[in-house]
Amino acid sequence: MKTLVNAKISGVHGYVPEYRLTNAELETMVDTNDEWIRSRTGIEERRILKGEGKATSDLAVPAVKALLEKTNTDPAEVDLIVVATVTEDMSFPDTANIICDKVGLSKAYGFDLHAACSGFIFALTTAAQFIQTGLHKKVIVVGADMMSAITDYTDRKTCILFGDAGGAVLLEPTYDDDCIIDSNLKCNPEGGKFLYKKAGGSLNPASIENVKAGDHFLFQDGRPVFKYAVNGMIDSINEVMERNNITKDDIDWIVPHQANLRILNSVAKGLDFPIDKVTINIQKYGNTTSATIPLCLWEWENTFKKGDNLILTAFGGGFTFGAIYLKWAY
Ligand code: UT7
Repeated sequence: MKTLVNAKISGVHGYVPEYRLTNAELETMVDTNDEWIRSRTGIEERRILKGEGKATSDLAVPAVKALLEKTNTDPAEVDLIVVATVTEDMSFPDTANIICDKVGLSKAYGFDLHAACSGFIFALTTAAQFIQTGLHKKVIVVGADMMSAITDYTDRKTCILFGDAGGAVLLEPTYDDDCIIDSNLKCNPEGGKFLYKKAGGSLNPASIENVKAGDHFLFQDGRPVFKYAVNGMIDSINEVMERNNITKDDIDWIVPHQANLRILNSVAKGLDFPIDKVTINIQKYGNTTSATIPLCLWEWENTFKKGDNLILTAFGGGFTFGAIYLKWAY
């Protein structure tokens, strides 16, 4: 959709906590081994936020503070903050409000947005539309998750996958072509039963029984999710390219959600797209849910060139999925 004012990403920063949970340490916790984890997922280690009283906002705040500093942005200039997360500090107030307080975003308002592993692309699309109205000049989009808070470290099928991290981008208005150009977001409710957290919401409020049963941890039936993820990302990328009259040869980088190295290889193969133009850092951080894409943008920030064509793509619980087409703006 072409409007007069568009949104551009004018900065990105990430944060990962110090503690490294290695495959060797996981071998001491559950019946698994380094070879299985590397060959089935590509993950070598993940970061974990340790310490009393720590929460998802503690992953977001360092990223937002560093982002403001590097873009010379006064915290009081920020209009809005949109936070993608499934591990909010508490169900309310929103983590966005807590970040506003901790960072000193004195004039901003904000809200949390849930779309599981697709959270960042849903939040980026939402935030870009606030810029396109002309009413917002500086909007921060955060993807942050403390997955260790909802991971069962006795379940080998899931505990090897997830890590903690946060990332943030600054969105500003532009009349230039280097901007967020199009977004193709989808959901498929058939996926609800394969990836979810049973308890803690209004359907199954917290109780001694459901905590004893481990229902406050995330559940995943990995195999079907894998298949849907590959097809969902390929289809949404193909659709967004088609409606913008571009082909894979026009794409400089694909920046995908990092859930499994085999998924990334299958997506590249399915699109016949070179794997060395796909950003991959899953080996270092595992699946950090809403944070994977901003962490990749942060790591590749100095490699991208102004005007590069990027496709961001994600797939997650819901199912939610999609692809964003943008031109890198700096
Ligand atoms: O980010 C949101 C979206 N999520 C995803 O995209 C995740 C998609 N799914 C996956 O990435 C993969 O399905 C997993 C990595 C989760 C699992 O890999 P898989 O190749 O699908 O394995 P599987 O679940 O089919 O299990 C194969 C075998 C099973 O043993 P049997 O039944 O064949 O004897 C599992 O019990 O591997 C066993 N297994 C393990 N063995 C050692 C499962 N987890 C482990 C483990 N270590 N950690």
